[in-house]
Amino acid sequence: MENFRFYSPTEFVFGKDAEKELGELLVGSGAQKVFLHYGGGSIRKTGLHDRVTQSLKQKNIDYVELGGARANPVDSLVYEGIDLCRNEGCDFVLAVGGGSAIDSAKAIAAGVKYDGDFWDFFDGKATIEHALPVGVVLTLPAAGSEGSVATVITKEEEGLKRGTGSDLLRPRFAIINPELTYTLPMWQTAAGVVDMMSHIFERYITKTEDVILTDRLCEATLVSVMEAARKIISAPNDYEARATICWAGTIAHNGILGVGRQEEWTTHALEHELSALYDMTHGAGLAVLFPAYMEYTLDEDVERYYRLATKAFGVPENHYDKKAVAREGIRRLKGFFIEIGMPVTLKEAGAKKEDFPRLLETLKKNKGNRFGSFMKLKLSDAKKIYEMAWE
Ligand code: NZQ
Ligand code: ZN
Repeated sequence: MENFRFYSPTEFVFGKDAEKELGELLVGSGAQKVFLHYGGGSIRKTGLHDRVTQSLKQKNIDYVELGGARANPVDSLVYEGIDLCRNEGCDFVLAVGGGSAIDSAKAIAAGVKYDGDFWDFFDGKATIEHALPVGVVLTLPAAGSEGSVATVITKEEEGLKRGTGSDLLRPRFAIINPELTYTLPMWQTAAGVVDMMSHIFERYITKTEDVILTDRLCEATLVSVMEAARKIISAPNDYEARATICWAGTIAHNGILGVGRQEEWTTHALEHELSALYDMTHGAGLAVLFPAYMEYTLDEDVERYYRLATKAFGVPENHYDKKAVAREGIRRLKGFFIEIGMPVTLKEAGAKKEDFPRLLETLKKNKGNRFGSFMKLKLSDAKKIYEMAWE
């Protein structure tokens, strides 16, 4: 295990009716004027918007609001949010929604406190040194942004989807009521499941040795997520299953499963090119790419994939042919993605083969010529992974 620092100050308020504590949490955070940020309107349909604004009013907390954060949130709304938040003198940013609303809110929180262009943080020209405090009411377990340091934004004009991060962007609090996820379309639930599983794979697939505790935590989380996802397919309002998925989404990405080990993140980089170009759902892109990435890198460490197959995907042990066991694990993972309604080929997901050069061009802009730590990849390797995922 490598040395590490882990700082996770978010207060998680979890369970039925958890959003009733919002006003109290804002008062406790010293919020005087809240910048309320959300997505395309699901929170209005579900009535959550009314409940949130009611709890602000009850505590006499002033607020302004800006909705419209799209899935794969874009820079233009962040600029608009920064201006509005500054002009209104808000001192706290509250995101209500999924990863997109939260990421957009985080970028606004950092941008408000910075004199230059907020994109500098995503370009590597500046690091985040100040940010307004962020709070979250989560409606979609997937990205894990409610507990993570990260924000991922797309610069539309250049088609660049990039992430940046800072401990300053970890939410002060995150309210997670599993019942708020009952209204999710199955597609979003399933994409969220793939995303959280992928956040675990990005940590599990490592060359760091002697990380048995985090390995086992990863495996247990994967098993629990798959079990709960299967329940939700037949019973979308199964509270316990929704609760498992909600908490798994958070711990999959708040960093606890990655401490002491080298993390990977190549498949996320490959996927961000898909969601930038096609506005593809992030989890759907990952469902297509992860089995291909695993197959491509299998020989780097058959033992690691053997462990994943036997401990997480239930493949029986066979010490005489570990590679076959590892392959069966990847096949089962793909089967699970199909079972929950996710695409597993680029063709199915709506990509076009003639776009591969474009995907590789932006990948090069974002990651350079060589990337990855588990296996050092060149752009030619990335091309092969896209090709393997084609059909
Ligand atoms: O926009 P509204 O109307 O709210 O509808 C959303 C949206 O259409 C809908 N939705 C959310 N909660 C709902 C609901 N519909 C009904 N009932 C509810 N309770 O679901 C749709 C998708 O929402 P979105 O926020 O886009 O999804 P997700 O949470 O999967 O976030 C995806 C974004 O997060 C980024 C992804 O790249 C993508 O841009 N990521 C952020 C990370 C981070 N900050 O740490 C890490 C991840 O790897 C990921 O890259
Ligand atoms: Zn992700």
